Amino acid sequence: MTHYEQPGFVLWMTGLSGAGKTTIALILVDELKRRGLKVERLDGDVVRQSLTRDLGFSKEDRDKNIERVSFVAKLLSRNGVACICSFISPYQTVRDQVRKETTNFIEVYVDAPLEVVMERDVKGLYEKAIAGEIPNFTGISDPFEAPVNPEIHVHTDRQTPQESADMIVEYLEERGLIEVGVRELEN
Ligand code: ADX
Repeated sequence: MTHYEQPGFVLWMTGLSGAGKTTIALILVDELKRRGLKVERLDGDVVRQSLTRDLGFSKEDRDKNIERVSFVAKLLSRNGVACICSFISPYQTVRDQVRKETTNFIEVYVDAPLEVVMERDVKGLYEKAIAGEIPNFTGISDPFEAPVNPEIHVHTDRQTPQESADMIVEYLEERGLIEVGVRELEN
């Protein structure tokens, strides 16, 4: 087998809380690891317990959150790591900043209508936000700027998480960021 040098990239999943970012990220991490790639996952709920534990949800703090994550993603992506990031990251200018700073940035819009994520309310946070118990809650009392021109747009109200993940893997293959066909050959 010829030596293959894995190009680093940043798969940046943006979307409302409960849209399915983490679920899709976990499927992708499994699939890419199975293919022998170096992978790291950066996720809002996890990162906010460590690296950005001191931050809240004002615009300023959200920007700082993403700024710090961007620094980590920059180091990983320029060293050949597949970096799977899942953050609400509601502001387009900040996402554009991550794009500028990192290697092979791919914006993935994990899209589900607000009514759908409110209905799912996986963490019970929408109910609390509507009751006024959580201030600045994205989609309820805080803005979410939908991506203007994302590389990938998945609709989690009409697709299964596996279907969304498959779409993303196909995109990575087409872009030459991962090798084609390994999935088919191995199965
Ligand atoms: S971001 O806006 O700074 O990108 P991030 O993705 O790290 O957000 O964290 C979002 C997670 O924090 C949500 O999935 C939810 O569990 C929790 N959370 C707590 N308070 C809020 C809030 N006011 N708005 C959005 N998410 C919140």
